[in-house]
Amino acid sequence: MPTLTIDGQTIEAAKGTTLLEAAQQLGIYIPRYCYHPNLSVSGNCRMCLVEVEKAPKLVTACSTEAAQGMAVLTASNKVKAARRDVLEFLLINHPLDCPICDQAGECGLQNYYMEYSLAKSRFNAADKVRRPKRRAVGPYLALDNERCILCTRCVRFCSEVTKTSELEVMERSDHSYIGLKEGTALDNGYSLNIADNCPVGAFTSRDFRFKQRVWFLKKTPTVCLGCATGCLIEAQHNENVIYRLTPRPNAETNTWLCDYGRMTYKAVRAGDRLTKGVIKNGQIDLKPALREAAARMDEARRSAAVLGSPWLSVEDNAALARFAKDALRTENYCFDFNCGQGIKDGILINNDPAPNTSGVKPVKAACGGITLTELSRRIAAGRIKAVLMEARAAALIKDALKAAGPRLIVFAANTGEIPAGAYAALPYASYFETPGTFVNYQGLLRRTKPPVEAPEGVKPLWAVVNELASCSGTSLGLDSVEETLKGIYIK
Ligand code: SF4
Ligand code: SF4
Ligand code: FES
Repeated sequence: MPTLTIDGQTIEAAKGTTLLEAAQQLGIYIPRYCYHPNLSVSGNCRMCLVEVEKAPKLVTACSTEAAQGMAVLTASNKVKAARRDVLEFLLINHPLDCPICDQAGECGLQNYYMEYSLAKSRFNAADKVRRPKRRAVGPYLALDNERCILCTRCVRFCSEVTKTSELEVMERSDHSYIGLKEGTALDNGYSLNIADNCPVGAFTSRDFRFKQRVWFLKKTPTVCLGCATGCLIEAQHNENVIYRLTPRPNAETNTWLCDYGRMTYKAVRAGDRLTKGVIKNGQIDLKPALREAAARMDEARRSAAVLGSPWLSVEDNAALARFAKDALRTENYCFDFNCGQGIKDGILINNDPAPNTSGVKPVKAACGGITLTELSRRIAAGRIKAVLMEARAAALIKDALKAAGPRLIVFAANTGEIPAGAYAALPYASYFETPGTFVNYQGLLRRTKPPVEAPEGVKPLWAVVNELASCSGTSLGLDSVEETLKGIYIK
């Protein structure tokens, strides 16, 4: 293990560590554009130049390995002058877009210019190289070539992570630009990571552009529920509106996010958001809807069934199980789901589209119930008169429902989820609005933290279940989210 000094501090670095990484371990930040910890090193931007004692020229810290006895300076006058020169060079052809650029506030050029340069341009603005601006390049991305500093992070992402290689550096010298290979579009399922990785405003998200200035955004760490992978995310929001989801890189699960997962926040304020009860396709206030749903479940009683859902949290499944056992006193309830879980595309997207197949298991262990096959059999045989469940779970027993047509009472966050022919639908708060416990495909516990509040009157599903039980004269005693987890053992 080589021992070296960086700005006078001694470090013993593991073999293969670069100067940039060794400095980082000492808490010394070296500016960079092309370097990304999860992509190959290309060493082309020269922003990370440092001085190494006895070396004839400055070296790039991102591509130079730490060696025994090196004495490295990261903030000498020579280094500072080089940074200023690199920035001046990059800015020569950069457009004067900052006031209208969506990257403002998180732009590598703006930030480093303020920190390391502040130099006046010696270049005549009229002589700038012009390049194509504001092109849509795929469903989620816009590309402004004039803002590009040719760091090639986007090119490397497409060739190394998605392995789709849509992007290339075209032409030579100051004619160079990032271009799409003929006949391709950036729709590889992970394209929004390119907007995150682009250090300037060249690649921006078409979904997020101009919706909000980044300095107004608050950040809440939470979990993506788009599939069983359960990626860690940050929900960025302001004034009770979510504007984008970004990854929280972690060693266990995810560095990136898929495009599908990034868009899951849209359901929260979608036009079909359910905020009232629905009885026979007509919207009514929640209270009468609850009374009507409770009356229909009461009517069916022992021939009523309750189905849990791998799309719901442990708490909400546990509340449904309590309702089946303590309010309906039926034996027809099921919390038994299986899905061959695993990453299906070699990156992140899981075979299991539901986020909590593993998290329903502790509910089954604590509360029992019948298998999904047995429940389907009883429904198909006409033994079940009414079923209470979360709307998306209806797909799991669709053949049985088709065969017998029991009365369906569903919980739904959006009307688009309500299965055709449902008798009643009750709204509930999404997991961007209420905390919930999930277990991902690796068995890792995931807890959502709500960045925004639910629409007025819309409550967490466990609380709606509690009210439903009171309408039938049973107290489940679910006065807090903690109550729901009593007796449930999650590893
Ligand atoms: S578009 Fe962005 S990520 Fe791609 S090379 Fe240009 S600056 Fe780098
Ligand atoms: S892979 Fe799954 S958990 Fe990860 S971002 Fe995509 S949908 Fe969400
Ligand atoms: S970060 Fe080292 S050359 Fe770009």
